[in-house]
Amino acid sequence: MEKAKESAATAVSTGLRGVVAASSSIGDVNGEKGELIYQGVDIHDLATKSTFEEVVFLLWHGRLPKRTELDELKRNIAASYELPGWVAAVFKHFPADAEPMDTLRTAISALSFSDKESRDLSRAASLRVATRLTAQFPVIVAAIDRARKGLDPIKPKAGLGIASNFLYMLNGEMPDDFDAHVLDVALILQADHELNASTFTARVVAGTLADMYSCVTAALGALSGPLHGGANTAVMKLLIEIGSVDNVESYIKDALAKKQKIMGFGHAVYRTEDPRATHLRRLSKEMGQRKGDTKWYDMTAKVEEVMKREKGLLPNVDAYSASTYYMMGIPLDLYTPIFAISRISGWTAHILEQYADNKLIRPRAEYVGPRNVPYVPIDER
Ligand SMILES: CC(C)(COP(=O)(O)OP(=O)(O)OC[C@H]1O[C@@H](n2cnc3c(N)ncnc32)[C@H](O)[C@@H]1OP(=O)(O)O)[C@@H](O)C(=O)NCCC(=O)NCCS
Repeated sequence: MEKAKESAATAVSTGLRGVVAASSSIGDVNGEKGELIYQGVDIHDLATKSTFEEVVFLLWHGRLPKRTELDELKRNIAASYELPGWVAAVFKHFPADAEPMDTLRTAISALSFSDKESRDLSRAASLRVATRLTAQFPVIVAAIDRARKGLDPIKPKAGLGIASNFLYMLNGEMPDDFDAHVLDVALILQADHELNASTFTARVVAGTLADMYSCVTAALGALSGPLHGGANTAVMKLLIEIGSVDNVESYIKDALAKKQKIMGFGHAVYRTEDPRATHLRRLSKEMGQRKGDTKWYDMTAKVEEVMKREKGLLPNVDAYSASTYYMMGIPLDLYTPIFAISRISGWTAHILEQYADNKLIRPRAEYVGPRNVPYVPIDER
């Protein structure tokens, strides 16, 4: 028995690849087949038939809502939009050149001071906290963007869904219907992805029975990295640097020869088409056609062609979301916060699941350092 424990503790899987670290009913990724489900429902159905609010209910409750349940969730979200006054005022003191992911992380951490239910980890209270967080993420991201431009925040409209409201609060005018639809689909596609790095982070923190704000603050830190949520902004910077379809082939080949990673391509789990990329590719193309310029879509498609041929790597969720958001006029550094506006639904679903059947997450490390090193007094070193 002791021996079995010992060998389990010393089998290292770098990056925890292939390690099953939790049982979950929230979402599943089949990397070989390129399938993604949320609570059993196929992502292709959700991306073409559902709304982000419906997906939020699905992730939290394990089934699609009845109409009355969906209406209730929307009412609860609308009732939670307003930020505590002091939090809104704090944005004015953030440096104008701060990364929005950093200001979002700081704001969410601060928001916990005003939530008297944050330490109540019961499912009922946690669902209310999750609702407030889901409502307030888009409000905060829009307010952060306006504050750094010296503009006052715009109050959300109670009758609008999260995607429309976010664009409305960002730009101060009602969004184009297609833009709002595209953002809604993008939010659906990014809502959950099993034990990705930020969700795993959230579950590790939840496993200590810390409050939901701590879990989400930690998850935001994980999401900000360029190998995770930060990749979408990096893709757009790359496209801008490449400049034209004609430059793609030589630029990408050159970068690969220098062993550089091309953001938006490759995946830790998918070995075939990422089903989220299927929809974002379609939306990027249609967005370009509607705006009368498919340059950014065409460039991404060319990068896809070269990456497939040269490295056998396929686009992930970030490859085509970049050009899609760019054509909507969204600032580059808001792409990852938008990912967070979506992923808060998955994070909170996983935190609820972790709280409901908790065990502290505490893996082992393979020690590769020296042993029996004598302690030498400081003056003798
Ligand atoms: C997502 C990602 C971290 C998954 O990585 P992984 O499964 O751990 O695979 P590795 O990083 O170990 O890469 C395996 C090989 O493919 C290469 N590779 C993977 N992604 C690559 C990319 N985007 N561009 C160029 N080469 C890439 C690696 O350099 C490595 O090559 P090597 O064996 O010659 O060293 C990786 O594909 C990546 O960094 N992609 C870009 C960032 C990104 O888009 N992140 C968002 C994910 S949704």
